[in-house]
Amino acid sequence: MCGKPIWVAEGRRARIRLGPADLLGGRTLLPVVAGGQPLLLVRDAGRIVAAERACPHEGADLSHGQCVGGRLRCPRHLASFDLEDGSVSLGWSFRALRLYPVEIASDGLWIMLT
Ligand code: FES
Repeated sequence: MCGKPIWVAEGRRARIRLGPADLLGGRTLLPVVAGGQPLLLVRDAGRIVAAERACPHEGADLSHGQCVGGRLRCPRHLASFDLEDGSVSLGWSFRALRLYPVEIASDGLWIMLT
C-alpha cells in the first residue's frame, strides 16, 4: 500500500491526488470525480485544466464537448468557455465555467478544490 496521502486539507481548500501524472494518456478530455464533485480534465496545448463537468447553461455533460484553441465547447448549444478564466463566448449571458488549478508533480496529478 502506498503511504502517500491522496487528500490533504489546506484550510478551506483541499489538494486531491487524481492519479498518475499521465492520467489522461492520449485523451484530450477525461471525466473524473474529486472531493465528490464531477469534474473534467482538459488537455490544452501542453497544459491540463480542470473544470466543472456540467455546463453552467443547462447542465450538458462537457465531457462530450470539444477543446479547440484554448476553449472548451459545449456539445448542446455550442457556447464555448475560455480555459484561462472560464468566461463564456460572446452572445451568452450565463456565468463563467468554474476552473480549478491542476498540478503535475513527480508523484502524480493533483487538483486544488476550494
Ligand atoms: S447546455 Fe451548454 S451551452 Fe447550453
